[in-house]
Amino acid sequence: MNQEKPDLPQLKEDLIAAIEVATSLDALDAVRVHALGKSGVITGLLKTLGGMAPEQRTEEAPKIQALRNDITGALAGKKAELEREELEARLATEKQDMTLPVRERPTGSVHPVGQVMDELAEIFADLGFAVATGPEIEDDWHNFTALNIPPSHPARAEHDTFYFGEDRTDEKGRPMMLRTHTSPVQIRTMTSQKPPIYIIAPGRTYRSDSDATHTPMFHQIEGLVIDRGITMGHLKWTLETFLKAFFERGDVTLRFRPGYFPFTEPSAEIDVGYSVDEKGRTVIGGAEKWMEVLGSGMVNRRVIEACGLDPDVWQGFAFGTGVDRLAMLKYGMDDLRAFFDGDLRWLRHYGFSAFDVPTLSGGVGA
Ligand code: PHE
Repeated sequence: MNQEKPDLPQLKEDLIAAIEVATSLDALDAVRVHALGKSGVITGLLKTLGGMAPEQRTEEAPKIQALRNDITGALAGKKAELEREELEARLATEKQDMTLPVRERPTGSVHPVGQVMDELAEIFADLGFAVATGPEIEDDWHNFTALNIPPSHPARAEHDTFYFGEDRTDEKGRPMMLRTHTSPVQIRTMTSQKPPIYIIAPGRTYRSDSDATHTPMFHQIEGLVIDRGITMGHLKWTLETFLKAFFERGDVTLRFRPGYFPFTEPSAEIDVGYSVDEKGRTVIGGAEKWMEVLGSGMVNRRVIEACGLDPDVWQGFAFGTGVDRLAMLKYGMDDLRAFFDGDLRWLRHYGFSAFDVPTLSGGVGA
């Protein structure tokens, strides 16, 4: 290659000088691009290494690489300095005078998910259910195995689980995870309380999934009853009573479809009847169309056994559903992602007054 030998010390001096005089992050970035960008001068020099004879390369490569490191370091140093200056300038100018009178009434609102959780707690408290909770970081046994989902079970694949790395494992060395459903609270309750058990467990759950109706974090509510002589009739009455109270309509119709969950046997998926009005809105009630709202079933004997209880004495039912979905249905929101954007306009529109405490006598959503 017939090229003039670049004057590296001069180039370094020029670049350092340009870095020094940069007075803004944008100007500094322009220097970075000029030196290290795709067609930057140093990048160009590094590219010439490939065409050199081996001896020449051994000699030139360290020099060019040293230049690159020096410039990278100088850029980083100057960047930190400019960022510090920018922050100080903002701190000096962005003052708030706390003695000024308030111009607007404070407009905080209760998020629809919080409101619906309170509504659910109110409805189930009236039926004699207590609220139970469990950790969001779960171990393999509570989230899967005790729920009759052993390691090789195909249901595990359907859960899109977020696992922790090797530094966060259970006592058997298996990775911990973000719970994929609220069902592990069934296990935690059965292993820590004596039956009879009547609980609901609302809370955050996580799956690696994201579109208009799925977010990686979402909310579920679990219900669990363990008592003597519990039948599917109790399950049916409880869910009917719950959904009528929740949707505040006496004409809520349910359809029980056979389903499959490893932790319930038999299992039923529950659809609620609805129609679409002339404005395209979903109206719950009737039996024109159906949508699935709940998973449920009789607690599997194996789950009762795993929790150290005798399944010949204790029976029960369980159900689970998405709280965000219930909120969307009841209050007419169509994009789940907006729930978690923290957009004040959305919150003002869909949020509830803090005084709007759900009560059964007032209609839970009144
Ligand atoms: N855990 C189930 C899910 O996340 C829902 C469910 C709960 C089904 C309890 C039956 C009984 O899909």
